[in-house]
Amino acid sequence: MALPPLFDSLALPMVAAPLFIVSTPELVIAQCKSGIVGSFPALNAREAEGEPIMLEAWLKQITEALERHNQDNPDRPAAPFAVNQIVHRSNQRLERDLEICARWKVPIWITSLGARPEVNEAAHSCGGIALHDVINDRFARKAIDKGADGLIAVAAGAGGHAGAQSPFALIREIRAWFDGPLLLSGAIATGEALLAAQAVGADLGYAGSAFIAAREANAQDAYKQMIVGGGASDIVTSSLFTGVSGNYLRQSISNAGLDPDALPGADASSMNFSEGRSKPKAWKEIWGAGQGIGAITDVLPAAEVIARIGAEYAAARARLLAVSGPFAGQGASA
Ligand SMILES: Cc1cc2nc3c(=O)[nH]c(=O)nc-3n(C[C@H](O)[C@H](O)[C@H](O)COP(=O)(O)O)c2cc1C
Repeated sequence: MALPPLFDSLALPMVAAPLFIVSTPELVIAQCKSGIVGSFPALNAREAEGEPIMLEAWLKQITEALERHNQDNPDRPAAPFAVNQIVHRSNQRLERDLEICARWKVPIWITSLGARPEVNEAAHSCGGIALHDVINDRFARKAIDKGADGLIAVAAGAGGHAGAQSPFALIREIRAWFDGPLLLSGAIATGEALLAAQAVGADLGYAGSAFIAAREANAQDAYKQMIVGGGASDIVTSSLFTGVSGNYLRQSISNAGLDPDALPGADASSMNFSEGRSKPKAWKEIWGAGQGIGAITDVLPAAEVIARIGAEYAAARARLLAVSGPFAGQGASA
């Protein structure tokens, strides 16, 4: 099945993942202007009591910036943007945020931590599409049953809440019955990985950690430097911080006075988004990141990160198409 037409303006088959605390309107605007879907969690837009609603202000800023860009660059239109809704009973803002996003006609709605028909209906009410994030085939089936239009398969190695399954197995199982929009998440930080996501059967790659060290990202300097200096072995998987298994930077766990090699587990009932985060330290001091951070070697504007990934993608594609040697043409003759 073809991707919905709203993806036609993409310069690369890529969606930038929403990052709790880290995603800002400036980051989203830069991502969309560079031709990939930019996104942010609605919960990142937070006002103090009695102040004007920040989510409205962010949606206005993003919408107007992208409209201006499109007027000035009709030959290079911006990609659409997405807003992430945490569909968890502890998110007390959900209903309000759905109403605001529908009013601003948000084109892409990303839902995580719960599949609910009324959230998909809110997306559809303004002409948007809903993509639900899943870690296995069972949750994928449930999400589509409840009315999601597409799926984000979160495989092993992804930053933040991550799955445990190999991307090969996960995409294969979902593609066996689902021919709608399918995104692959987990350690995609290079053009080669993006091309591989398509090769295994995903339509688009979904990348988060690649943008934590972007100039426009709201991450402390030390966090950005830990990404720049880190690699796959610096990532620790634990359920302690939010009640759900996730990937974090080892050094940030040690800096918080904990032993990253001896963390106790925690169960999902401890998850709480009413304060916007699940436990006092999660995300703010215990920093999330995925196994793909070895590809991030500098703090750069998002446009440069995307330009690098684009160049790698084109080169990898050309290299594969030009392949010669023992396996060239193997598929065709088999
Ligand atoms: C610091 C951080 C915060 C995240 N916050 C969210 C979030 O608020 N909502 C969400 O749906 N996913 C969140 N994610 C998960 C990403 O959406 C995505 O699945 C992941 O970053 C992809 O793997 P990668 O980081 O290896 O590219 C977060 C990931 C990280 C690293």
